[in-house]
Amino acid sequence: MLSTSLLAVCSSFVPSAWSAAVSMAPLVSPGNESAYLPGFPHPNPVKSYWQDPPHRIANLRTTPELPSETFDYVIIGSGVSGAATALKLLQRNPELSILMLEARTAASGASGRNGGHCKTGDWKQVKEWIEEYGEDEALKIGKLEQDCVDDMANFVRTYNVSSGWQDVETADLYFTKEQFEKAVATVEFQRELEARRPHDVPQNNPRTVWEGQAARDYWKWPQILGAVTYSGHTQNPYLTVCAMLELSLAKGLNLQTNTMATSLKQMSTSSSGKSLWEVSTERGTVKGNKVVLATNGFTPALHPGFASTNFLEPGRSQVSAVHPSANTSSNPVFRRSNSYPDSPSGGDYIIARAPGDVHEGDVIYGGGQQFSPTRERNITDDSVINETIAKYLRSIGRLTYGYENWGETTEVVADWVGITCYTPDGFPVVGAVPGEDGLWASVCMNGHGMAWAFRSAEALVEMMVEGEAPEWFPGPFRVERAWEANE
Ligand SMILES: Cc1cc2nc3c(=O)[nH]c(=O)nc-3n(C[C@H](O)[C@H](O)[C@H](O)COP(=O)(O)OP(=O)(O)OC[C@H]3O[C@@H](n4cnc5c(N)ncnc54)[C@H](O)[C@@H]3O)c2cc1C
Ligand SMILES: *[C@@H]1O[C@H](CO)[C@@H](O)[C@H](O)[C@H]1NC(C)=O
Ligand SMILES: *[C@@H]1O[C@H](CO)[C@@H](O)[C@H](O)[C@H]1NC(C)=O
Ligand SMILES: *[C@@H]1O[C@H](CO)[C@@H](O)[C@H](O)[C@H]1NC(C)=O
Ligand SMILES: *[C@@H]1O[C@H](CO)[C@@H](O)[C@H](O)[C@H]1NC(C)=O
Ligand SMILES: *[C@@H]1O[C@H](CO)[C@@H](O)[C@H](O)[C@H]1NC(C)=O
Repeated sequence: MLSTSLLAVCSSFVPSAWSAAVSMAPLVSPGNESAYLPGFPHPNPVKSYWQDPPHRIANLRTTPELPSETFDYVIIGSGVSGAATALKLLQRNPELSILMLEARTAASGASGRNGGHCKTGDWKQVKEWIEEYGEDEALKIGKLEQDCVDDMANFVRTYNVSSGWQDVETADLYFTKEQFEKAVATVEFQRELEARRPHDVPQNNPRTVWEGQAARDYWKWPQILGAVTYSGHTQNPYLTVCAMLELSLAKGLNLQTNTMATSLKQMSTSSSGKSLWEVSTERGTVKGNKVVLATNGFTPALHPGFASTNFLEPGRSQVSAVHPSANTSSNPVFRRSNSYPDSPSGGDYIIARAPGDVHEGDVIYGGGQQFSPTRERNITDDSVINETIAKYLRSIGRLTYGYENWGETTEVVADWVGITCYTPDGFPVVGAVPGEDGLWASVCMNGHGMAWAFRSAEALVEMMVEGEAPEWFPGPFRVERAWEANE
């Protein structure tokens, strides 16, 4: 059931209510539109404001020509999945030769254009996971999520990455009694798990429940019935991932941006008995003993086997960065990041840029897919925004936070979209591609990659190097399930 008051808020947005100061984000230097292959990365994606200015490695080609040697690894995709895989491989063994192909500029996929949250959240489904997979596997999933976020935080701190990383209090806000009661029960259940299985359940992120008036006072938002707070982070994800790429480059990674892989071919094993793959690109063919797909929602286009499973569904997510006219810097309402699991548009979220940040005072609003009849699924084109969704995202902040908090007008700083990827069970697809010796994947992060991908890459690297998944790897992430689902 949707809250009628919030529905009213959402359906009341009208063009005249948004700012006169609409300024559209400029496009990146135009790619060759006529070279677009449906399902593959679009040559001319809209730019996110994280990518302004472009990073110094944005258009890097380590060698001007594509190298002809056979690499130990060819990694396709330079998002967090590909970047973390390269870095973790090279940290284990600096002797490895690794080539990375990126269709567009470095980290320009979902990783360079997301909402900026690095927080857990899927732990809320722990009861459902236990019913489906049993307690041990369910707890592995929950632990991977928290460990992944903690690892990202450690990475940023260890390497002193300047990506606007913030530790924030994050909240899930509820508008319906039914959903809030379920959330409270989940928190209680989670606490019971923490006490009963202290070694298997992270102890470092306690949740606080806010009920009724206490929640409304804290968020100054009259429609809220309750909230659950815990700790999370916000960041410029583009800069975090570019830092992973730069560290890998310093250890010998060969990065080839603006080089799209168009097909894969398994060759007979090399003279050394190792697997051997040829990857065709628009600029020629490259060779590797192992190939890693880190291609997120574009995976089915490149790999017909994955496409035939129909297990990986691409989707398009959208964000607006807006600037309230009120001075929000001393208003605590804007110092927290919020997600709305039961909002009418389905899973909206908001992040305010912190004081001192280059984007101080901006508010990033994400979500709104529910306004599209297809929920923006089965779309791989990130060269256009959806205007209907943009209208909602640009105006909803002032309506929900109230004029006293927000001010009279809203400046639209930027709108952008990115391509995500969903599986029916909500989990990434990580490991060896069945029946294709030397082909590996860590794909389809279900719109939650900042909390899944870094640890998935760790598991993948362990599988590729040690020949076995680590003990903490959750079985439900296995690649084989994409094929088993059709059996
Ligand atoms: C608008 C938006 C908001 C989001 N908000 C959040 C959030 O707040 N928190 C969160 O945790 N997650 C969020 N996500 C999801 C998160 O960004 C992704 O799950 C994560 O970045 C996926 O990382 P990845 O490396 O697997 O894929 P990507 O970052 O998409 O990288 C895949 C790369 O592969 C390249 N590629 C694909 N095919 C080929 C090919 N054939 N040849 C060469 N290169 C190829 C692509 O160009 C791309 O750069 C959001 C996503 C979007 C789009
Ligand atoms: C653009 O792509 C088309 C189709 O691949 C190709 O024929 C054409 O030469 C390209 N143009 C430029 C300027 O690269
Ligand atoms: C971390 O980075 C900041 C800004 O780039 C710099 O001022 C600082 O000296 C760095 N600290 C360390 C320990 O490297
Ligand atoms: C906003 O308010 C803070 C203190 O409340 C002040 O330091 C800052 O200068 C103000 N910013 C603007 C743009 O007025
Ligand atoms: C955006 O969503 C609307 C409806 O919500 C839909 O009709 C339209 O086709 C979408 N636009 C694009 C560019 O996909
Ligand atoms: C996805 O979109 C393509 C065309 O863009 C269409 O051919 C296909 O049937 C769609 N698949 C689903 C599952 O809707």
